[in-house]
Amino acid sequence: MATLAYPSLRSVVVSFLLHVLLLLAFSFSVWGRPTTFLQDFKVTWSDSHIRQINGGTAIQLVLDQNSGCGFASKSQYLFGRVSMKIKLIPGDSAGTVTAFYMNSNTDSVRDELDFEFLGNRSGQPYTVQTNVYAHGKGDREQRVNLWFDPAADFHTYTILWNHLQVVFYVDQVPIRVYKNNEARGIPFPKFQPMGVYSTLWEADDWATRGGLEKIDWSKAPFYAYYKDFDIEGCPVPGPSTCASNPGNWWEGGAYKQLSPVEARSYRWVRMNHVIYDYCTDKKRYPVTPPECV
Ligand SMILES: *[C@@H]1O[C@H](CO)[C@@H](O)[C@H](O)[C@H]1NC(C)=O
Repeated sequence: MATLAYPSLRSVVVSFLLHVLLLLAFSFSVWGRPTTFLQDFKVTWSDSHIRQINGGTAIQLVLDQNSGCGFASKSQYLFGRVSMKIKLIPGDSAGTVTAFYMNSNTDSVRDELDFEFLGNRSGQPYTVQTNVYAHGKGDREQRVNLWFDPAADFHTYTILWNHLQVVFYVDQVPIRVYKNNEARGIPFPKFQPMGVYSTLWEADDWATRGGLEKIDWSKAPFYAYYKDFDIEGCPVPGPSTCASNPGNWWEGGAYKQLSPVEARSYRWVRMNHVIYDYCTDKKRYPVTPPECV
């Protein structure tokens, strides 16, 4: 009996190992690439204020009276989707700004897609400001008050950018859509690759209640946390045919416009959480900007 059991035990072990391998391969394909900070990013401002934690899969950004800090992607990208999980400064964060954005780094004809998290006094809501620069023109600010405390836990912030639209997401919820309306003569970022950036800095001359609330340095140092860095897009330099390839998943049917579920949650944000929209700021724009119509 023992001689019969021996090969079957071996085959059990082999099949077990095969299953483990398959499971591992499956997990990696589901979760995408392992994402350490240094794989895709580098520190661009104040090394001493960015600390890698959890084996480099997460980072801590520090703001104190000496300095803020910043980091950037090593590559630039032309279309794609970038997302990360961020946990903002808790408690009294008034006067601080945490930004997560894409930028073409070409000042005269700048393209830029911005998330800016404006801190607030304890118990007062954070404000998320978004802005879109296309072919050098910005001044398209919108502001949303979040429906949760973004300092209590990590939440996912995503910029989707393809040939037809730019969408800013908070978790799965679209908070802003900038459509490609080139047919109506409205500029759309399409020609220049953009890098991915983040900074944490002091901006108490404007950030909180228009600059009325100052930073309370007795609460410093201030900490923000980032993890789950995920960039999927066409790196530049890279294969020149990538950006125009309609087979890229971010150009696919599901990303050409909001899904019905997304459209519903977008309407909910517009109705309940938008606190400022340049489109309806008549003092600033007596004539409604064309992309708002
Ligand atoms: C801060 O809180 C005040 C009071 O609730 C609110 O008016 C403001 O929009 C909040 N955000 C900023 C960035 O000032």
